[in-house]
Order: sequence, then structure tokens, then C-alpha cells
Amino acid sequence: MRGNVQQSMLKVLFFGDITGEPGRKAVKQSLPGLLETEKPDLVLANVENLAHGKGVTVKTLEELIRAGINGFTGGNHIFSKKEFSDEALTKYSDRLVRPANIPDTYAGNTAIKLVTSKGAVLVGNFLGQVFMENQFHDPITSAFAGVEFWQKQNQSPDVVATLIDFHAEATSEKIAFGYFLDGKVSAILGTHTHIPTADAKVLPGGTAYITDVGMCGAAGSVLGVKKELSLERFLTGNRVSFDIPDDASSVELSYVIIIVDESTGKATEIRAVHQIVKLA
Ligand SMILES: [Fe+2]
Ligand SMILES: [Fe+2]
Repeated sequence: MRGNVQQSMLKVLFFGDITGEPGRKAVKQSLPGLLETEKPDLVLANVENLAHGKGVTVKTLEELIRAGINGFTGGNHIFSKKEFSDEALTKYSDRLVRPANIPDTYAGNTAIKLVTSKGAVLVGNFLGQVFMENQFHDPITSAFAGVEFWQKQNQSPDVVATLIDFHAEATSEKIAFGYFLDGKVSAILGTHTHIPTADAKVLPGGTAYITDVGMCGAAGSVLGVKKELSLERFLTGNRVSFDIPDDASSVELSYVIIIVDESTGKATEIRAVHQIVKLA
């Protein structure tokens, strides 16, 4: 019999899309305090926008590894600077997972297993198809069609919890995916929109769910990029390229805390946090 049930639970902290330097700074500044107060067994982050908003590099990933983040997920932008992301996906294939439902010609692993003191945690990343930039022209597989096969392929006796970052635009597709997998995985965490949603909940079958965790990126921006550039694009139709406000002093920090009973793999709690961090 366990002396303290709460202590036997697996606790995971997951940061939404860390966007450029402002996001990295806010996470690095906040994480020591969170490790102290929350004492998570595992820290994860979505890094599709890590390097100046576009993809991931070895250097930026290593910044976060040093800060104490254990595992990373991707999204449609992970390959924005492909030569850099290929290097990161290869060097850190044991802790950076790329979307599973894209062609096998892309670099990187489609599943990672991260070891904690409570057992191994299987982490996956799937792309939605509704309203997404049609970046991957492949007949393959919606996330719905592929995820159960993925799970069977990657399941092993040491896995105590399975978490999926569902990277998608449409709220309907996201909650439908949540119900599709309710009771089959420990958590479905939505990313990509950079806007946090107020619907964190444990679904009836024991899957922790949120439509979108939100971003870790510059406050006063449009989704983490300079608002003036986004406005120009909307007002003129010009294809202006986006940029990150590197001088941001306030940053939105968005994350969730999930608690999973490692004896059943079911979630018992999900808590979403959105705050403004003043950079030191
Ligand atoms: Fe993103
Ligand atoms: Fe995205």
C-alpha cells in the first residue's frame, strides 16, 4: 500500500510553443522557480518556433536542455530552416519528436520515450489537417488514421504514460481528436495557435486535454511576431516576412501541469497557467 498517493503520481510540465528569444528567456528565467515549487518528474516543450520563430537549431535546443527541459515536440514550422532542424532532430533524436503523420523522408523520430523515476513516458506529435498550411502534400494519414497504429508500434511494458502534442488549427478537430483517444492515452495537448484556451479538463475516460496550451512568446505581439508586420500583411496583402520583437520586456508564459496515475496511465488532473513574465 502506498504511503502517500500524491507522491506516487507522475507530474509533467509542458510549455506551449516557445517563440524566439523572448520565449526562451522567459522559460529560462521561470523554470528554476517552477522546478522548485511544482517538482515535476518531466518537463516538455513545443519548440517548432524556438529559433527566431522558425524551427529549431542545436544551439537553441541546448539552451533549453541546460535549463532543465527533458523532451521536445515539433509542429508544421519545425522544418522552416530545414538544414538546422535536420541537425537538431538527428543529434537529439532521443528527446525531440517530430510530427508522425508526415512522409518518412523527413528527418527525426516520430516517438520518444523519456525515462523518469516513475517509469517511461511515451511522447508523440501529430499534425491536424483542417485549416493548416498545406505544407505536407502527402496522402498519408490524418492523425486519426495513424495514431492507434503509432501507439501500438511504440508501446512497451515500461511505458507508464503516453502524451501527445496535437498540433492543429481547428478547435473542432482538436477536441474530436481528444474524444477519439479518450482513455487510450494519458494526455492530448493542443499547440500551434499560440492562443491559450480555457478548456483544460480530464475527459471521462481519463485523458487530460486542452485545445491549446498557448505560447511562450513576446507579449504585445501577434502570436509572438511583431504586430506591425502582421498588421501590414492584413492591411496591404503584401507578403511581408515576420520578425520576432527581440527587445520584448514582457513575455506571455503558457504551460500546463498534468498529473497521471502511473499505475493506470490515466490522468487525474490538468491545470493550465498563463502569465506575463517581466524579463529581468
Ligand atoms: Fe507555433
Ligand atoms: Fe505550428
